[in-house]
Parts: sequence; C-alpha cells; structure tokens
Amino acid sequence: MTIRTETADGVARIEIARPEKKNAITVAMYQQMADAIAAAHDDRSVRAILIHGQPDIFTAGNDLEDFMKNPPAGLDAPVFQFMQALGYCEKPVVVAVNGAAVGIGTTMLMHSDLVYCADNAMFSMPFVSLGLCAEFASSVLVSMNAGYHKAVEKLLLADPISAEEALEMKIVNRILPPNEVLDYAVRQAERFNKLPPASVRETKRLMKASWRPMVEKIIVEEAKSFSAMLRQPEAKEAFTAFYERRAPDFSKFS
Ligand code: COA
Repeated sequence: MTIRTETADGVARIEIARPEKKNAITVAMYQQMADAIAAAHDDRSVRAILIHGQPDIFTAGNDLEDFMKNPPAGLDAPVFQFMQALGYCEKPVVVAVNGAAVGIGTTMLMHSDLVYCADNAMFSMPFVSLGLCAEFASSVLVSMNAGYHKAVEKLLLADPISAEEALEMKIVNRILPPNEVLDYAVRQAERFNKLPPASVRETKRLMKASWRPMVEKIIVEEAKSFSAMLRQPEAKEAFTAFYERRAPDFSKFS
C-alpha cells in the first residue's frame, strides 16, 4: 500500500505511505492520488480533503527511478492528472507536513488551500540541482508568495527552506510541534463541515479565478521544458549521482 485513503467526518484523507523510500511518489501513486481527489470531489459527504505523509517524512518528491524509467510523456501523465485534480478541486485542500517536503512535495502546497507544518519540516525545490526546471507554475508562484529574489535562492540555488522560512515565504499557514500537526490539520479540515458548501466552493473558485489563466499557460510551458530536460545528460548525471551516493559533477556541461 503506498497511498491510503479514508473518509471520516466529512474529510477525505489521502496519506502518502511509502516510508521505506521516504514517501517518494511513483507514477502509480500519482494516479491513486488523482483518483482519490476525484472520488472526494464526487462524494457529497466530503467537505474537505486532507493530504499528509508519515510522522517523519512528507515526501522525498518524485521517485527518481521512475523519472529515469517512466519520464512523464505528456499532459495526460499521472503526475499531471494529480496536479490538475488538485488545482481544480472545488473543495478545500488542507495539507499537513512533517519532515521533508521535496520537489513536488513543496510545489503541491502552492496549489493547496491551507498548509500546516511541523517545526522539523524542511522544504526544497531542487529542480536545478537535478538538471531540471521549475514545475506546475512554481516559476511564478514562488515569486508571487515570497518575492523574486527569495524565489531565486530557492529555485536557482535550490536552497532548502526551514519551517520558519516557509512561514515568512507564505507557503505555510502555521508551524506546530511535530506530534500536533496532523490533529490540528484534521480539525481545520473539519471546520468546513459547519460552513455552507456552495459558498465555500464559489469563494475558492473566485479567489483563484483571476490568476488561473496565467498559471495554466505557465504550467504548459514548464512541462515542455521539464519533459525535455528529463531526457538530457545533466539530469542523467544528477540522478546517477543520487543513486551512487556522490555529488553530481556538472563541470563537463556548458
Ligand atoms: N526517489 C526514489 N527513491 C528515493 C527518493 C526518491 N526521490 N528519495 C529517497 N529514496 C530512497 C533512497 O534511494 C533510499 O532507498 P534504499 O534504502 O533502497 O537505498 C531510501 O529512500 C532512503 O533514502 P535516504 O537518502 O537514505 O534517506 P535520508 O533520510 O538520508 O534522506 C532525503 C532523505 C529525502 C533528504 C533524501 O532521500 C533525498 O534527498 N532524496 C531525493 C530527493 C529528490 O531529489 N527528489 C526529487 C525531487 S524532483
């Protein structure tokens, strides 16, 4: 089992559960998460969705072996289906982050609605260090949240982001002790049970409506570059270095 789902008290929970690989997300897991969001969308008893990981890891991002063996081939690949389902989800999405949230683990926060993290959380968007580029509109959303110069540190230099910095960068709502994050996120998600659902859905739609066309255009542009770069020698060197447990050597590239 790599994705666990459960619906209780109006909240559809999606748990990333592959701790032996630090919750790295495979193609099959993206598909499971996309299906879970679609099911929650259609379930009239669900008022909010909650995504979380394990007590010591949110996710190590995309499974690097999968990136090499099954690079996403087009806009209907499971990773896109997941991010589309998340981005277009009419119901509020709450995320609880413990431990590391790498790559898509940080990107998905910018498409979610409420984010709570542990004081031991560590976010990162190491796309450039992997020979790749920004994804799912992070090239603009990080700047929109945190300002351009901060975004350069996080996307071009790939500096990690502590919980405190994530709060300053406005990509999380609140920092909590690690053993309280999930319970707090559940309680926040359950608050939507008491609110009028159509009003919540319409207000969420309106809050995203003005910048959605820009975000959609950028997602397509980034996806073309990302997909091409996955097949290039810089990415191959980065992925090989990860599995050989050594620092990548980009000195031969120009
Ligand atoms: N894809 C596939 N496997 C991964 C993975 C990933 N993204 N991240 C970790 N794993 C695997 C490791 O290969 C290792 O497997 P093994 O036990 O079979 O050798 C296992 O998970 C544990 O990883 P390890 O690196 O030993 O754990 P750690 O606690 O020292 O470090 C991380 C945790 C998340 C900091 C580190 O694993 C990491 O940097 N992962 C890669 C993150 C990344 O670049 N993601 C892609 C973003 S686009």
